[in-house]
Amino acid sequence: MESADLILTNARLAPGPGDHRGGVAIRDGRILWVGPADAVPCAGPCRDLEGRVLTPALIDCHTHLVHGGHRAREFALRLEGASYEQIARAGGGIVSTVKATRAASEDALYAQAVPRLEALLAEGVGTVEIKSGYGLDRDTELKMLRVARRLGQAFPVRVVTSFLGAHAIPTAYAGMPDKYLTDICLPALRAAHAQGLVDAVDGFCEGIAFDTAQIARVYDEARALGLPVKLHAEQLSHRGGAALAARHGALSADHLEYATDEDARAMARAGTVAVLLPGAFYALRETQAPPVAAFRAQGVPMAIATDANPGSSPLTSLLLAMNMACTLFRLTPDEALHGVTDHAARALGLADTGRLAAGMRADLAVWSVEDPAELAYRIGFNPLFTRYFEGREC
Ligand code: NIG
Ligand code: FE
Repeated sequence: MESADLILTNARLAPGPGDHRGGVAIRDGRILWVGPADAVPCAGPCRDLEGRVLTPALIDCHTHLVHGGHRAREFALRLEGASYEQIARAGGGIVSTVKATRAASEDALYAQAVPRLEALLAEGVGTVEIKSGYGLDRDTELKMLRVARRLGQAFPVRVVTSFLGAHAIPTAYAGMPDKYLTDICLPALRAAHAQGLVDAVDGFCEGIAFDTAQIARVYDEARALGLPVKLHAEQLSHRGGAALAARHGALSADHLEYATDEDARAMARAGTVAVLLPGAFYALRETQAPPVAAFRAQGVPMAIATDANPGSSPLTSLLLAMNMACTLFRLTPDEALHGVTDHAARALGLADTGRLAAGMRADLAVWSVEDPAELAYRIGFNPLFTRYFEGREC
């Protein structure tokens, strides 16, 4: 009989088929065994979870958690009728956060990100993706990515970074997106990669940002560096980003409100995950929902994330994002749970997390609920009982 560091027993395992009672044995930070509670094949200290729901630690696969300042004024302007695009074209939007992020010291950026990260962790998150993209100059992009890495070292969480230099066109390059890519974005990507700061490459394909030909230039550089790609695509209008992402074998295409059935087919063929961001849909009072039925029909895995950012989604609750995905996009509670576990892991290219299975990292969340569907059903309530990171309770 194998020895375990810890055996969690009498749990309801989720996501999984029906009433799935059992336990999990942990050794050296990994899951050693998962199975029915009456058949534990290992010896070691046991903890009785008294019927609570046990899931993989949640994964927030799309955030802009590191940024300077806030945009509460813009929120007020939107309520008065201004659109997100109008604000962006008038010099607000992403470019205004760029100013605040450039001005902030590395320590100040870190300090501002900490409470946002803590809010996610308090809800059982064990992996969080963090993007750059509010620097739009080499030094600030690198600064943001260093802060992201530092958060991952200081907290019991795994941080995955995405380089998002192609997020917006900085004021100094207005009307010259290709020159911005040549002079700033691509060299910054190479520098960030050389310093080990980049896990994936993202972009924003939109009328107020970059077109498909420009994103393709960024993707070519990513490929040369051996980095996976993803994309903010079809958020405000249909621009061909989802199809482009699929053609490049992207890990994910994100937002997708204006994606088509054809996009869904291309994503299915490419294995590209659809990352749904209901917080941005909600905050921008968008009315067109992403084509969930097409994703389902084509077998495109759907992930859900907060998109935590100061403009379109000032949201730091992944549980609320799950609830919104159900209420606003008609996902089932079970789909919502897959959306923040195994499907979110796929959106990040991580094969060792997001599932309760032998060999996976022992990043786990224990919930004081009877039914896993309660995680998506409640609004503004946190039922987390405890969490484990690499097998250790924290
Ligand atoms: O994911 N779509 C572009 N990027 C962000 C918004 C960033 C911002 O408004 O600051 C998003 O929604
Ligand atoms: Fe985003």
